[in-house]
Amino acid sequence: MPTSLRAAARPVFDSRSPASVGLTFLPSLPMLPWSRSSAGLGGSMGEKTLVILGSTGSIGRQTLEVAARHRERLRVVGLAARRDAERLRRQAEEWGVSHVALADAQAAHILSHDRSLRVYSGPQGLCALVRELRADLVVAALSGGAGLAPILAALEAGSDVALANKEPVVAAGNLLTQTATRFGVQLLPIDSEISAVWQCLRGENRREVERVLLTASGGPFAGWQPEALAQVTPEQALAHPTWRMGRKVTVDSATLMNKGFELFEIKWLLGIEFSQIEVVVHPQSVVHSAVQFRDGSALAQLGCPDMRLPIQFALSYPERWESDFPRVDLPALGELTFAAPDPGRFPCLRLARHAGEAGRSYPAVLSAADEVAVSAFLEGQIGFLEIPRLVERTLEAHDAFAISGLEDVRRAEHWATQYAAGLVAAGGAGVS
Ligand SMILES: NC(=O)c1ccc[n+]([C@@H]2O[C@H](COP(=O)([O-])OP(=O)(O)OC[C@H]3O[C@@H](n4cnc5c(N)ncnc54)[C@H](OP(=O)(O)O)[C@@H]3O)[C@@H](O)[C@H]2O)c1
Repeated sequence: MPTSLRAAARPVFDSRSPASVGLTFLPSLPMLPWSRSSAGLGGSMGEKTLVILGSTGSIGRQTLEVAARHRERLRVVGLAARRDAERLRRQAEEWGVSHVALADAQAAHILSHDRSLRVYSGPQGLCALVRELRADLVVAALSGGAGLAPILAALEAGSDVALANKEPVVAAGNLLTQTATRFGVQLLPIDSEISAVWQCLRGENRREVERVLLTASGGPFAGWQPEALAQVTPEQALAHPTWRMGRKVTVDSATLMNKGFELFEIKWLLGIEFSQIEVVVHPQSVVHSAVQFRDGSALAQLGCPDMRLPIQFALSYPERWESDFPRVDLPALGELTFAAPDPGRFPCLRLARHAGEAGRSYPAVLSAADEVAVSAFLEGQIGFLEIPRLVERTLEAHDAFAISGLEDVRRAEHWATQYAAGLVAAGGAGVS
C-alpha cells in the first residue's frame, strides 16, 4: 500500500470563468489567484510529500538536489520518467522510493523484476501514480505536451502542482486553472522568470499592476542576421549561453518560442493579460523579470542563473528556506544590459502572442506544431528558420474550435501533429 499521504482535498470555491480568476477574489493577493486559503496549506508544520514527474531530466535532477538539502522537510514518495529506467532505479534506491512510473512500457518492464518497486507503466501509469500517492506536491518536470494528463490527474487527486513543464500551460492553461480551482489546490510556477514575477507580486494588489517586464537571455543567436540563422545547426542551437537545460527547451530558447510560452505561464498562473507583458532582452539572465505598478514603481527579482533557486521557492512556498546557492554579486557583475527584442528575426514570439490572444484551440496547435518542428530540426530534417515557418503554416491552416476539456486539447494537438508532420514529410515549410 502507498505510504501516502493527505486528507481528501476540499474544494474551497467553484470553478469560474478564467476572466474572473485572478482578478476578482482578493484586493491583495499574496497567494496565487485560485489558491485555497492559507489555512489549508500543510507545508509549514511538517514534512511535505513529493512526487517528481520527469525526475531523470534537468529540472527533475535539480529538484532532487534541492530536496537533498531539506530532507527533514521534504519526503520524496514517487518518481517518474519516460524511458531512463536505470537512472530512475538509482534515484528510487537513493531516496527509498517504492512507487515509480515509466511512460515507455518496455523500459517499465525492465524495472518490473525489482521486488522493492511498484512500477506503473505507460503514459497512463504516470496518472495512476499521482492518483494513488496523492502527495502534498507534485513537481511537473516532463518535457512537452505529455505532461498535461498527469498534471490534471494530480490536481484532481488533491495535490498542489509545481510547474516547470510549460507546454501544458500553453495548450490548456484555462483547463488547468479551472481544475485547480475546482479541487481547491494550487499551481505554483517553477520557471525562473515566472517565479520572479510571482515573487514581485507577493503582497501586492494585482489590479495595481501596469505591466510585466519579462526578461529573455536572447538565446545564443541574439544579433545574428537571417542568412546566418538559416545555417544554424542543432549543435549550435543546443549550446545555450547561460542555462543548461533539456534539448527541447534549449531549442525553444534559441527561437524565442520559449519566451512566447512564458507569456502563457504569466497569463494563466499569475492572472496577468498578454497585453500587459513586455519582453526585454537581458543576456546576463540576472534580472529574472520585473513588475511595474501603476504609480511607476518597478520591482525586480534578481538571482544567479541557477534553476535550483526557483525550484526551492516553489517547494518551500509559502516560506523561504535557507540555501547555499550562489549569491548575486552586483559589483562583480559590473554591467547588466537590456534591449528590445527584434520580432522580425525571431517570429516565434509574435506567433505565440497571436495564438494566445486568439485563444480557443490555437495555443494547443502552437505547442504541438512546435514540438514537431523542434524534433524535425534536431533530426536534421528542417532548418532553424523553418521552425517558426512550420508553426505558422500549421496555425494558418487550423480551423479553431473551443476547448472545454482534455479531449478537445488532444484533438487539436493530434490535428497539429499530423499537419506539421505532413509539412516535414513534404520537404519542410518552404524556407531555407
Ligand atoms: N531545464 C530548465 O532549466 C528549464 C527551465 C524552465 C522550464 N523548463 C521546462 O521544464 C520541462 C522539463 O525541462 P528539462 O530541461 O528538465 O527537460 P529534460 O532534461 O529533457 O527532461 C525531461 C524529463 O521528462 C521525461 N519525459 C520526457 N518525455 C516524457 C513523456 N512523454 N512521458 C514521461 N516522461 C517524459 C524525461 O524522461 P527520460 O529521461 O526517461 O527521457 C525526463 O525525465 C520543460 O517543459 C521545460 O520547458 C526547463
